[in-house]
Amino acid sequence: VNRDPADWETWATARLPPSVNHLDNAAAGRSSIATLEATSTHARREATEGAYVAAAGAASTLTALRENVAAVLGVETDGVAFTESAESALDIALRIWPLAPDSTVAIARSEWGPNLRAFRLAGLHTQVVPVGGDGTVDVAALEDVLRTTPPGLVHVTQQASHRAVRQPVVEIASLCHDAGVPLWVDAAQAVGHCATSTGADLVYATSRKWLAGPRGVGMLGIGERWIPTLRIEPKPLLGDLPMLRYVESDEAHVAGRIGLANAVGEYLAAGPELVAARLDEVGRMTRAALADLTDWEVVDPIDAPGAISAIRPTAGQDVIAVRARLLRDHGIVTTVSGTARAPLDMNEPWLRVSPHVDVTPERIDALCAALAEASRRRAGPM
Ligand SMILES: Cc1ncc(COP(=O)(O)O)c(C=O)c1O
Repeated sequence: VNRDPADWETWATARLPPSVNHLDNAAAGRSSIATLEATSTHARREATEGAYVAAAGAASTLTALRENVAAVLGVETDGVAFTESAESALDIALRIWPLAPDSTVAIARSEWGPNLRAFRLAGLHTQVVPVGGDGTVDVAALEDVLRTTPPGLVHVTQQASHRAVRQPVVEIASLCHDAGVPLWVDAAQAVGHCATSTGADLVYATSRKWLAGPRGVGMLGIGERWIPTLRIEPKPLLGDLPMLRYVESDEAHVAGRIGLANAVGEYLAAGPELVAARLDEVGRMTRAALADLTDWEVVDPIDAPGAISAIRPTAGQDVIAVRARLLRDHGIVTTVSGTARAPLDMNEPWLRVSPHVDVTPERIDALCAALAEASRRRAGPM
């Protein structure tokens, strides 16, 4: 059930008016004024009260944040650690998880490129599981892999960064659980976008994208039964804490976490299911409009899930130049998805468009008009 579009206007009016046509939430969302204020108020308190006194004074906000993040990620509160980013959460996971050296990690082709680097650096081998035509894991084939050549772990990027592909994580979690193979989920693009409480053994995400929290804050969630198996040393300086807290930076961006507490509160108040349904609708609306362009092809079906859309140039356009011109001449913010984002799934750059719940058809039309104008200019006399 979708809300009245007017309800999503309140999402927009809770924010500073954008100076651009911001269609780039998969890079970073726009924080609400209340989130900016929560962050800056804490930073001010650090300067007026002393940083450690301010942190102690914010203890109940931070506890509520842990509880909310635990619910969003589907783990216990003591299974949550805050990090600087999704990438740093994965690095920590690779350091503390009891993986045998030379282990294999099973992945899909749509895997986030920098994760492949992290696996290589950790000495892991990768095994690519078959996917269907829509890029999602072939669940029957995965079941076969888990039975015949079980990897040390399965790693899935739930919502891809570069196109509208969302992996069936609940089904994958159930298969992995039955096979006794741990499942890790990169939920950097999924959190705040779709349901991320999926039964995975480990899940990590970032504040700044669909949750529209501050930059510089990431989250790691680990299932309770794994905690005693992790390679974690307590830190005597910090006293007696739940084990996973010892992987957090001692020197954290606490103000950012306070801002995230506000952003997560806003997300829960908006209703995660309503947000997810609206973002599906936003994605469909975006892809339907982009499908009418000549010289561009929408990479995924119009009714693919989520609000990330990719278009590929079909007339030799330079996507980097197009993105730059959209920003410079039209004030439209998009992303070039270079092949490094998903090297196993891309062989040319695409343009990524990722509006949030507040987007209007007029804003998508403005993008389409700017792209169409560029095509006309190219086709016209020099
Ligand atoms: C799928 C995916 N995973 C991980 C990341 C990395 O997140 P962070 O920049 O918080 O490390 C991103 C960022 O774009 C992403 O799209």
